[in-house]
Parts: sequence; C-alpha cells; structure tokens
Amino acid sequence: MSVHVGTDPEHAGQLLRRGEVVAIPTETVYGLAANAFDSEAVLRIFTTKQRPSFDPLIVHIGRPADVHSVVRELPPGAEDLMHAFWPGPLTLVLPKRPEVPDIVTSGLDTVGVRMPAHPMALQLLQLLEFPLAAPSANPFGYVSPTTAQHVADQLGEAIPYILDGGACAVGVESTIIGWEGDRWVLYRPGGVPVEAIEAVIGRVDAAMQQVVPAAPGMLESHYAPRKPVYVGDVTTLQEKYAGRRLGVISFSRSYTVERSMALSLQGDLAEAARNLFAVLRELDASDVDVILAERFPDEGLGRAINDRLRRAAAKR
Ligand code: TXA
Ligand code: MG
Repeated sequence: MSVHVGTDPEHAGQLLRRGEVVAIPTETVYGLAANAFDSEAVLRIFTTKQRPSFDPLIVHIGRPADVHSVVRELPPGAEDLMHAFWPGPLTLVLPKRPEVPDIVTSGLDTVGVRMPAHPMALQLLQLLEFPLAAPSANPFGYVSPTTAQHVADQLGEAIPYILDGGACAVGVESTIIGWEGDRWVLYRPGGVPVEAIEAVIGRVDAAMQQVVPAAPGMLESHYAPRKPVYVGDVTTLQEKYAGRRLGVISFSRSYTVERSMALSLQGDLAEAARNLFAVLRELDASDVDVILAERFPDEGLGRAINDRLRRAAAKR
C-alpha cells in the first residue's frame, strides 16, 4: 500500500465517518484519530499503535461547548481554564459522560479532553458530527511525530490517510491536568506552562506516585529513541562516553562531538520545544552511538522538555 498524504480535511472526514483511523495535525504533535463514540474505530487506534489498553486517549473537540458531549460536569475553574487556553495545548481530565466508550478512557470514569489550536484540525473537527479520540501518531513508546513525514515513516503503511498540516508549532504534547475532587493536579507538563495555569486557577499540585492506569505518558520509559540517551552535564558525560560516536542535544551552545545539535541558538524555550522531537529522531537515525542531552532550565516549556528527555533516557 502506498502512503496517502494530503491536505483535504473533507477527505479525512469521509474516512473518519466510515470508522477509519486518520493521522491529523495538531499544534502539539500529530495525532492518530478516530470517532470517539465508535468503539470499533477506537480499537483500531490501539492496534495500529500497538498501544496497551490501559493507556487512555485524549478526546479532541472543535468548539468549547462540545465539552458537554463528553463531560458530565465542569469542576470549579474548568471554565476559566477553557476560556484562557482553548483552543490550545491544555488537556483537562474531567468526569466523563456514560456515552464515552470505556475503550477511550481505559474504563476510568474520567475523560481527557482538549480543543486543539491547529486550523486544519479545527476545520476537520467542526465539519464532523463527533469528537475525535487521538493519541500521538507514533508506535507506542517511541518519540512523538511533529511532521507528516514522521508519521509516514512509521505508520504510513498502516493507515489510509495522513492529513498534512505542516510542522507542529508547539512541538511537545499538551499539558494534562485533572480535577481530583478538591484540587487540580498536574499529570504531564506540556505545551502550556504550569505557571500560566496557576496564574488562572491558583496552585496546581504535582501528581503523586501513579497507580495503574499509569496516567499521562507517565510510564517511565516513553518518548524514547532506540539509541541510549543520557541527560546531565554534557562535558562530564562526554568524558564518560569518550571513544563512542556522540550526538549532543543542547539548548544553545555547541560541543565538539560527532553531531552537536542546539535546539535554539537564541536560547528560546518555545523554539527549543518545537525542535526537540525532530532532533531526537534525526540523531536516532544518524550514525551516532549515544545521545547526550543538557538539562534545560526548569521553567516554562523547559519543564516539558526536561520531562521528555528524562523519559527518553529511562531504562527500558
Ligand atoms: O498534545 C497532545 O496531548 C497529543 C495530541 C495528539 O493532542 N496527544 C497525546 O496523546 O499526547 P497521548 O495518548 O500520547 O497521551 C495522552 C495521555 C496518556 O498518557 C494518558 O495516560 C493520559 O493522556 N490520559 C488520557 N485520559 C486520561 C484520564 N482519564 N486520566 C488520566 N490520564 C489520562
Ligand atoms: Mg504519546
């Protein structure tokens, strides 16, 4: 089967109405989408990605009011958050309506929902009669795709259509927060800085040690290239791995190694986040043996970058 890549939301919509799985662009990463109300279509997402069924999906909506098609009630602060950050890279985990199939939420009584900010994704969602369940469009555990080509490289043969919306503007997945009955809890740092969320609703707690279903990309080893990744002081790591072919991911400086890749020469965290996954893929495909990465400033988008690098480095 040849790979079908195009820019036609109507065509994507027709396939989705037939219960097919389609890759779609969002501002964060590409998603592997299906009708959120069709269990059989959603099952196809899990088989295509080889994703374990205990890992729930995010539901994408085209209008803020559509939240009521999947969510039972909005806890305190939810409307303020939607108003401040939608469309955008913030996922809210909220009490689900019974109409949302168990396969979407792994049997939980909550559902993760967001309204993406990509114009082509919004066009598609607004022409459909149903929301789209979509995880990132990568084989389970691997680095998330930020271009249509990334999706085609790994899943192109397995899906009928990739909707090409260009390179993702944010480049890391959405921030996920959930209401736990009395307070908001952070499950995954991402495209909206926690500081910005706290400016709207006050303190957001860090999630405690996870119970199964290992919430949000919380599985330790995740976002991981095939090559070993080590994070820390690069000069020290360089000595430790002397003699190996080294690839380095840095914020803005360059190192004397086989391949040194700065994520933002200007030292801009948003630009660094945008480039992170493409650079991980590039180094993974290159002839280096080992990938070393700096630790980024632990603020703003730097938190999401550090989180993804730490998981890329986790022992498998
Ligand atoms: O930016 C994003 O969020 C991208 C784009 C495509 O929207 N999606 C994405 O999906 O990153 P995925 O499946 O790779 O990660 C979604 C995470 C999962 O790790 C899952 O555990 C968590 O969201 N999640 C979804 N529903 C949840 C729920 N009800 N409770 C706790 N965690 C949930
Ligand atoms: Mg993912």
